[in-house]
Amino acid sequence: MGRLTSTYLGLELRSPLVASAGPLTGRPEVAERLQEHGAAAIVLPSLFEEQIVQHDTDLLLALEQGSQHFAEALDYFPDFPTFESSADRYFSVVQETRERLDVPLIASLNAFSAGGWERYAKMLEEAGADAIELNLYRVAADPQKNCADVEAEDIAVIAGVRKAVSIPLAVKLAPYYTALANFAANAVRAGADGLVLMNRFYQPDVDPEAREVVSRLELSHSWELRLPLRWMAILRPQLAGRASLGLTTGVSTGVDAVKALMVGADVCMMTSAVLREGPVHFATVERELLDWMDEHDYESVAELRGSLSYAATDDPAVYERANYLRMLHAWTTPTRLKPGPPRG
Ligand SMILES: Cc1cc2nc3c(=O)[nH]c(=O)nc-3n(C[C@H](O)[C@H](O)[C@H](O)COP(=O)(O)O)c2cc1C
Repeated sequence: MGRLTSTYLGLELRSPLVASAGPLTGRPEVAERLQEHGAAAIVLPSLFEEQIVQHDTDLLLALEQGSQHFAEALDYFPDFPTFESSADRYFSVVQETRERLDVPLIASLNAFSAGGWERYAKMLEEAGADAIELNLYRVAADPQKNCADVEAEDIAVIAGVRKAVSIPLAVKLAPYYTALANFAANAVRAGADGLVLMNRFYQPDVDPEAREVVSRLELSHSWELRLPLRWMAILRPQLAGRASLGLTTGVSTGVDAVKALMVGADVCMMTSAVLREGPVHFATVERELLDWMDEHDYESVAELRGSLSYAATDDPAVYERANYLRMLHAWTTPTRLKPGPPRG
């Protein structure tokens, strides 16, 4: 057993550094390079329900259009199964990546409806995925649905997929549940073997000149680590022995990884930093993590892991409130404020 050996979703990993879902992991040759530079597991980009539904709808429309106008036109179309759908493409990426890699391969599903997803989860398992990560990305913007409705739908998706597959199941959580600790416990009860904290929402901006909403994906920075750090520290003792915990968002250096492990992460994941620096960044972060452990006399990541979580008996809500007050009151405003422009 090495100094960095970690267990996630029951899978034995050579280190706690995992490549999270993103554009690089979806290219088998790049996934192989990520592994070469030390990524201990690979999470594929999500297979999105919309991709499949849209593709199948377009396909059926095309077929129907032909059949409406010329009965014989259907002969010109290949049989339905010979079309390669988004799902088929995804399954072939799973198979090819699985063949190239030694490290565990985690497929990701972006689910918002129960039912159909169970079928796709099953197919991903058959294609060779070692585990599935459910990406529960949604914006709860329907005023007719209260938080209990929204949560019940998500729990039904988790329970459905859990029944459909026998490989480990992780759930990537958004930070916006009203009662996150309660939802996390319910997700585990519904069958999640692990949780990934936190999904990063991409906020659209407004271009006032063009009067347009613009979608700009900005890569993360280390300061964004604070949100998942807080929730990792809160949830680790609550879910001790019941679920694996992965941390995503804001890990970009070895010290970021140290922080994630200290608050109890089993693994920490990277996308933005690797998009910036390339696959070799896994080796850099691993080196920095080992250097930090040497300087601070930690024998293994197991020793480091969870050394800073809330104790099970602490009340995190009370602690967080006290800290909030302390921070606001500790702010010191300079006695001389910058003069503003003259008025009038
Ligand atoms: C270009 C890009 C594509 C992504 N695609 C997915 C995806 O398909 N599924 C998913 O769950 N997360 C996706 N993510 C989110 C990442 O997996 C990760 O959770 C997020 O970027 C935060 O981690 P980071 O700070 O290391 O970037 C994507 C991120 C980026 C930047």
